Amino acid sequence: MGLHVLVTGGAGFVGANVVSALLDAGFDVRILDNFSTGQRDYLPKDVMIIRGDILNKSDVETAVSNIDAIVHLAAQTGVIGSIEDPYHDCQLNIVGTLNLLEACRIHNIKKFVYASSNAPLGKQSPPATEDKAPLPISPYGASKLAGEGYCLAYHGSWGVNTVVLRFANLYGPFSIHKNSVVAQFLKDIVERGEITIDGDGEQTRDFIYVKDLCDVIIKALTSDIGGEIFQIATGKETSIQELAQMIQHTISSPISIKQGPGRQGDIRKNYSAISKVKRELNWEPQVSLEEGLRATYSWFTKWQQSH
Ligand SMILES: NC(=O)c1ccc[n+]([C@@H]2O[C@H](COP(=O)([O-])OP(=O)(O)OC[C@H]3O[C@@H](n4cnc5c(N)ncnc54)[C@H](O)[C@@H]3O)[C@@H](O)[C@H]2O)c1
Repeated sequence: MGLHVLVTGGAGFVGANVVSALLDAGFDVRILDNFSTGQRDYLPKDVMIIRGDILNKSDVETAVSNIDAIVHLAAQTGVIGSIEDPYHDCQLNIVGTLNLLEACRIHNIKKFVYASSNAPLGKQSPPATEDKAPLPISPYGASKLAGEGYCLAYHGSWGVNTVVLRFANLYGPFSIHKNSVVAQFLKDIVERGEITIDGDGEQTRDFIYVKDLCDVIIKALTSDIGGEIFQIATGKETSIQELAQMIQHTISSPISIKQGPGRQGDIRKNYSAISKVKRELNWEPQVSLEEGLRATYSWFTKWQQSH
């Protein structure tokens, strides 16, 4: 395809998967990452990496030279981190995003794909949709919402084709450094053969395999769409209890499933409606939870053996 794509945060969980999918699809890829959570070992040897910070304008300038499109993933990625240090979260997620959007405006980069989440919707009851008013309940939700706002503004004011993708609960390879429920369960299984469910396990989430996400990112990069928000999920609710059972079924060895105290402020039900992305980007997820968990578990065991 020949497009020159910059992936910020390309050494992280989503980034490593996106970089590999883009290279496979024939894109020319460059990464801007400060390796605060990302890992060099996740990436192919010969990929072009700029070790730098999205808050450093000169690093951003170097990174965007001769680039046609940006996939912006680098961020403060967690609710807890945002509660511990809201200023850091604000700097990284708002000012960092603005730095990249400004680079698009100045250098006439016409496509910008932004990694958002359901956190901007906050208090809204499920399903998460594009047209519900955002009511964030964490600084992370507020900073991601501000990023979404700037994306829409750079489309409205300067015609940058910004596409906001609100990712649901992602899982897949290259996530051993993450504390998401699937990553935590698989790490605990590989290390101790045991997992602990927080609370009664009846809380639900919408789990999407990262390869499906990579497919929609490529669709967003190659479409003419701009100034739009899309929920990226499966549209299916799975309880943590069901997830644990499915993991047990997927890996053939026995595991012990324990119950721990519930987490304060844990959301009970969460899933997204995906009719807009199906209609406008002609995308829908292809990988079943069972299939995705099997592939993720296999990656975790191989990684553990080789590190
Ligand atoms: N993983 C999920 O389930 C999920 C869900 C919703 C949204 N998201 C969003 O997807 C994006 C990627 O998340 P992830 O799960 O891959 O996280 P991650 O921590 O694995 O990846 C983030 C990457 O950004 C890099 N980075 C952080 N600060 C940087 C800075 N100042 N300059 C340059 N690079 C920096 C890190 O080193 C890392 O490689 C984030 O924007 C996150 O908010 C993730």
